[in-house]
Amino acid sequence: MKHTIQRTILAISLAACGTAFAQVSVTIDAAKAGPVINKNIYGQFAEHLGTGIYEGMWVGPESPIPNTKGWRNDVLGALKELHVPLVRWPGGCFADEYHWKDGIGPRDKRPVKVNTNWGGVEENNAVGTHEFFDLAELLGAEVYVNGNLGTGTNQEMSEWVEYMTSDSKSTLAELRRKNGRDKPWKLDYFAIGNEAWGCGGNMTPEHYANLYRNAAAFVRTPPNAKPKFIASGGHDNDIRWTDVLTKQIKQNIDGVSFHYYTIPTGKWEVKGAATGFKEDQWLSTMKNTMAMDGLIRKNVKLMDKNDPAKKVGLFVDEWGTWYDVEPGTNTGFLYQQNSLRDAVVAALNFNIFHDHAERVRMTNIAQMVNVLQAMILTDKNRMILTPTYHAFRMYVPFQDATSLPVAIKNNGKYGIGKTSVPQVSASAARGKDGKVYLALVNTDPNKPVDVTVNVSGMGAGKATGQLLTAAAMDAHNTFAAPEAVKPVPFSAQASGGKLTVQLPAKSVVVTAVE
Ligand code: AHR
Repeated sequence: MKHTIQRTILAISLAACGTAFAQVSVTIDAAKAGPVINKNIYGQFAEHLGTGIYEGMWVGPESPIPNTKGWRNDVLGALKELHVPLVRWPGGCFADEYHWKDGIGPRDKRPVKVNTNWGGVEENNAVGTHEFFDLAELLGAEVYVNGNLGTGTNQEMSEWVEYMTSDSKSTLAELRRKNGRDKPWKLDYFAIGNEAWGCGGNMTPEHYANLYRNAAAFVRTPPNAKPKFIASGGHDNDIRWTDVLTKQIKQNIDGVSFHYYTIPTGKWEVKGAATGFKEDQWLSTMKNTMAMDGLIRKNVKLMDKNDPAKKVGLFVDEWGTWYDVEPGTNTGFLYQQNSLRDAVVAALNFNIFHDHAERVRMTNIAQMVNVLQAMILTDKNRMILTPTYHAFRMYVPFQDATSLPVAIKNNGKYGIGKTSVPQVSASAARGKDGKVYLALVNTDPNKPVDVTVNVSGMGAGKATGQLLTAAAMDAHNTFAAPEAVKPVPFSAQASGGKLTVQLPAKSVVVTAVE
């Protein structure tokens, strides 16, 4: 009886307050500029893997599919909307078996190889250095070329870089001219090997550090054409690589790479399906994605110790969801559907990368088209945009924006049993257009949440932007229903000097706050 009375009193007082729980509040400090969010945080990765390049992007100049210099016009048009800042090529694991001379000269004379990493299919080398730079130029993107330390030699890497960057009359520069390119290209980034701990040669970090120093010493360019050099680093189960590399390599190094994939089950053997999953895998996917923050923190701690001047960046040059392949597809092609869950994963990662913008100066989602967490899926001459594409597009104002500190109070938790994640993730920046942008994510697939937004140093009057959500956790676009998941306009007005943003369950909002 006593308990019943107490419960009644509590219910009456909550009703009088008008709300049962404290509201989540987000405060943006617009007066305190943080580091710039390097646009290359929104970089992409295109590997010779499955239909990622061939079919997905490259169809060749003779194809009936409309193309520019062999690259599909529909895909190019869509990618341009993302302002793709940078593309990494040719791998991945493929890079350590790629011999660049196979990919130059008349295409019908190029050797046909076996893509031993990815499905054992024929690689006809139709896309090589010239074609890749065409793609980058068509997109207006910077280039990140990954060198072959596995089956290649220092001489091969050094000659490739000379071929790309020399304006001299050297035999290699003349060969480039003969193959149709007069002026040297701008090579922005060059990596020495990939995943040297695994497909790149099963090395120890100490052994790799020696090979790196040795190779980088011979990869020479004209002084004004030097790319930024990247050492291939570790992964979620071994961040010792970051420690060893930043201790043992002091010259010719601008970045250490780091790879982390979100796997719903956390197990490589059975990763979980891209669609048709249950709520427990929605939650584990959120949780495993948010682990990126802790991993970056651990890496940054090591780097701050070994490189206090912060000369070297942490480049997360492979990230994204990795599911079991779609039933019936080649297991070596890593083709997977992409749902609203992937868009939320992308947004959570962006918010994390922004928080570490001082060190994290480049990331590359794996991968651009038809592979893993792709922006675009193609089927012959058709193309669909994925929810991940829409997340990238919504976040465009964050490219090269100045990050602003954000404080979240009264954040709720979303979880099942003992497993939970914060319900709201937020990030803010002052865009290049001077406006304050706010990105909000609601990880809870069931409950909406109201977020009060304050911008200190300026009263928030209204918010205008875009909202991405859907009815089902695994809502996705198909060739039959290509627009099942797409953003809708979003707006909110301040009332009594307070801006309240209503975030639907499982949603992403990116909005300008004025
Ligand atoms: O992105 C697919 C593969 O994942 C890459 O080739 C490799 O670097 C990583 O293991």
